[in-house]
This record gives sequence, structure tokens and C-alpha cells, in this order.
Amino acid sequence: MKSRISKLQEYISKNEMDGALITRKENLFYFTGSSLVLGGYLLITPHDATFFVPELEYEEARETSKVPVEKFKKLDELYETLKRFNVLGMEGSTSISFSNSLKEKSKIEEFKFLDDVIKELRIIKTPEEIKVIEDACRIADMAMMVALEEISEGKTEREIAAKMEYVMKMNGADKVAFDTIIASGKRSALPHGVASDKRIEKGDLVVIDEGAFYRHYNSDMTRTIVVGTPNERQKEIYEIVLEAQRKAVEAAKPGITAKDLDKIARDIITEYGYGDKFIHSLGHGVGLQIHEWPRLSQTDETVLREGMVVTIEPGIYIPNFGGVRIEDTIVITSNGARRLTKTERELI
Ligand code: CO
Repeated sequence: MKSRISKLQEYISKNEMDGALITRKENLFYFTGSSLVLGGYLLITPHDATFFVPELEYEEARETSKVPVEKFKKLDELYETLKRFNVLGMEGSTSISFSNSLKEKSKIEEFKFLDDVIKELRIIKTPEEIKVIEDACRIADMAMMVALEEISEGKTEREIAAKMEYVMKMNGADKVAFDTIIASGKRSALPHGVASDKRIEKGDLVVIDEGAFYRHYNSDMTRTIVVGTPNERQKEIYEIVLEAQRKAVEAAKPGITAKDLDKIARDIITEYGYGDKFIHSLGHGVGLQIHEWPRLSQTDETVLREGMVVTIEPGIYIPNFGGVRIEDTIVITSNGARRLTKTERELI
């Protein structure tokens, strides 16, 4: 934790800020090791760091925080402390009303963004972080196994999703990383078809997109199956998506750019004539947030480096027919990539 804060301190000194104020929960956890229900305010100066927390959570913070903790009763106390600052670093997502209050009550003259440095730190996962994400992925594998066993004609999508969530929690997950997507039949053409009351029918393509939130980190995986015997077109699009997914995972390694990796998968799908049906990016970073950097999109020029954790999730979506998406969470290694979600990828 110390080095994370010292890197931030170097950055604020170099960029002529008097201090930095962190308020986003996942960043508070990242820099202090504390995760508080009500959150708090981490104030970092070039030589110091203090974590201001509500009185209610003072004890909890004192036990978990790597940074000295101080309690406050009213935000006015924080505004008072900040009166000696002219230039303050903030997260880009800080609310306008809060920054207006800081301007008014603390007389802050200028805000600078911290997003670049926070991104640069968080985008590379430490071996400890990778270990936790790997565990989150293992839980996602267990939930997927249950989905594959349970999905059958007549059951509702919601029923399957509930069983998956149960398995995740029984295996240590705090919660689902996001609302489980079970999209069957024509609904599988909706990339974000959260589980509904629809009953699964014979012949349906079923897209299952799920992940676990475990010890503050996320996992993300998608599989697509056919209930009963797949028809030719279902098989065709499945094989195309699988080929694109495999090739992209194989090509992922340090040195390749995010957009070149997207292109590898997109070119395959385009060659088969479905380029216009691959309507999203190839993937995204995964960590404290389910969607973080880098974006594996057609425009992201991020060069992949060892320690990045990303998803590879090409898909084909045909309105009124159905869709296929196959997704793994992977980690970039020194010379390639390793899949952290391991459920089999062949068509079931
Ligand atoms: Co994803």
C-alpha cells in the first residue's frame, strides 16, 4: 500500500498539486486497504496521507487501514482542513456539487485530474491481486458448471441465475459481479439480456454471462449453449465466435495493442460475413471494477503488458434469431496470456 501512495505522491508533486483527495470506494480500498460502507476521504499530500472517515466507521477503519485514520463528524471539518490547499487533485468522477462545495468552502482554486496516474497504477495487477482474481474466476467456473447442468426446457432464466448466485455465495463470493445474464432464444441476440421470467425452450441458444465479486475483485465469463440439438446456423456462428475467441486469446501478449487484438477477432468474424453482427468491443480490463482499463476496442491504443487482466469476448448477434458470445478472463503473462476462467469452450 505504501508504494501505491508514494507513487501518487510523486505524481502530485511533479504535477504541482498541493494534495489529492480520493473519494471513490474502489480507490479508497486500493490505497488504504479499507472498505467502508459509508466511504471516506483520503487526503494525500506530497509527504503525508490521512484517511478521514465517518465516526460510525472509525473503529473498522482503524483496524483495516494502512493509512493513519481520523474521524470527522461533519464535512465542514474536511472543508476546513482543505483551506490550506490551492491546487487539488481529484478523480474525474467527483460530483460537480462536491467540487463546487470545495471551491466555495475551502477556496480551492484549481482541480487537476488524478485519473491517468490511478489508471497507470491499477491497470497492472500485482501477483497478490492476480491470485484473488483467479479465485473469483474459479467461483465463476463453479457457477457456470451449475448453469450447464441446470439449464433445460421449461425452466425460467431467473431460476438458473438464482442457483448460480447461490453457488457463488456458498463458495465465498460477496455478491455477483453484475446481474447474471441468461438470455435464451431470441433474447440471446441482446448482449445485455439480464435473466428474465422467460422459460427456456428446446432449440434455444442460451447466452450465460456471469461473474463473482470476491474480496473486492471481479471475474467475468460467458458461455453459450444450445438446448437440444443445434441447427446448422447455430453451429456455424458458434464455431466462428469460438475461432475468433481462441485466436485472440492466443495472440494476447505483452507488446500488442488493445486495438490490434480487437482486430484479430473482428477480422475473423468479418471474413465469415458477420462483421456487422459483432456489435461491441472485444473485451475490457477487470479488477476492482468489472469494467476498467484497458478497453479492448477498435480505438484503444494501450499496449498490453504483463499483469494486465482483461476479458476476451467476441460475439455475433442476429436479431430475431439469437446470439453467441464466448468470454474468458485472462491475465497477460511475460510471454503470452493465461486463461483464468477455465470452463470448456466447445459447444454443448
Ligand atoms: Co465482460
